[in-house]
Amino acid sequence: MKEKIEQIKQKSMEEIKESMDLKTLEDLKIKYLGKKGELTAILRGMKDLTSEERPVVGNLVNQSKETLEKIISEKEAEFKRKELNKKLEAEKIDITLPSNKIKRGSIHPLNRVIEDMEDLFVSMGYDVVEGPELETDEYCFERLNIPKGHPARDMQDSFYITDEYLLRTQTSSVQARTMVANTEKEPIRIITVGKTYRREDDATHSHQFNQIEGLVIDKKETNVSLADLKGTLEIFVRKIIGANLDLRFRPSYFPFTEPSYEVDVTCFKCGGKGCNLCKQTGWIEVLGSGIVHPNVLKMNGYDPEKFGGFAFGTGIDRLAMFRYGITDMRYLYANDVRFLNQFDRKDEE
Ligand code: DAH
Repeated sequence: MKEKIEQIKQKSMEEIKESMDLKTLEDLKIKYLGKKGELTAILRGMKDLTSEERPVVGNLVNQSKETLEKIISEKEAEFKRKELNKKLEAEKIDITLPSNKIKRGSIHPLNRVIEDMEDLFVSMGYDVVEGPELETDEYCFERLNIPKGHPARDMQDSFYITDEYLLRTQTSSVQARTMVANTEKEPIRIITVGKTYRREDDATHSHQFNQIEGLVIDKKETNVSLADLKGTLEIFVRKIIGANLDLRFRPSYFPFTEPSYEVDVTCFKCGGKGCNLCKQTGWIEVLGSGIVHPNVLKMNGYDPEKFGGFAFGTGIDRLAMFRYGITDMRYLYANDVRFLNQFDRKDEE
C-alpha cells in the first residue's frame, strides 16, 4: 500500500512538473486530488485495512495530498505570472511616439489691457463697477449735461432702439448711474469698463468698441484737484501704454466737465519727432478728462458746493492699438488666429 501511494505521488509530481498550461494542471488536480481521484480512492479503500495500517496509510495519503497541493499551487502561480507578463508585453505603450499637440489659446489683446487697467485702478483704491449697454437717453445724455438738441449729441452717432432707449455711446452713463445709486452721497472712486456703440466703421473706428471711464468725487475740503487728475492719468498712461511716454494736457470741451482737457501722449511710432501717424506733431490724443461739471453733480444728487472731483474716459481699443502697434482697429474683432497668435504670452517676454 505504502509503495502504491509513493508511486502515485512520484508519478503525479512528474506529470505536474511537465504540465505546460493551466488547463493540464487543472486536469491533473482532478485526476489525483479530486473526489474520484487516485489518492481519494485509496482513502476510500481503507475499510479493508487492519486497524494498525489505517492511521499509517491515512497519514501518508494526507501528506502526499498536501505536497501535491503545494506544488500545484506553485505551478499555478507560475503560469498566471507568465500569462500576465505576456499580456503586459503585448499591451506595451510606446511613450516615445510624438503626441498630437493641444493648441493653446491666448488672452485677447483687449482683455489683456482691460485686466491690467482693472488691476492698476484697484491697486489705487478704486472700485470696478458695471452699467447696462442698453441705456436710456436720460443716463447716456441728459444727466451728463447734454440735453435734447445739444450739439454735442451730433458727435456720437447713436443706435436708438426707441425714442428713449439706445445702445450707450459712452461709458460716461455709468458716472450718472453711480452718483444716483449712491443714496448716502458718499465719496466715489470708480472705474467702469465696457462695450459702447456708435454708427461708424473705418480703420480707426468700429461700430462697437470698448471704453474705460473713471470718476472720483469727494468732499470739497479734500481738494480733489487737477493735479490729482494729472498724476492719476500719468500713472495710467505709463503703466498701460508705455513707461517712457510724456503727457500733454490740451484744453478741450466736454459737456460734463469744466474745465475739460484732452490728453496727448508722445507718439509711440516716432518717439515725438513727428511722423505721418501723429501728423508731424509728435503727439497722439488718447484721453478725455476734466473736473466734474457742477450741473452734473447737481443733476445726480451731489451738492456742488460740498462735493467736487474729476472724470476721465477713453477707448480701450485705441489703447490696445498703441500698446501693441496695431494698425487697424477691426483686427481686434475679426477673430483671426493669425492675428491673435501674435499675442501669445506677449507680456511675459
Ligand atoms: N465720454 C467721452 C467720449 O466718449 C470721453 C470722456 C471725456 C469721458 C471726458 C470723460 C471725460 O469722463 O471727463 O468721447
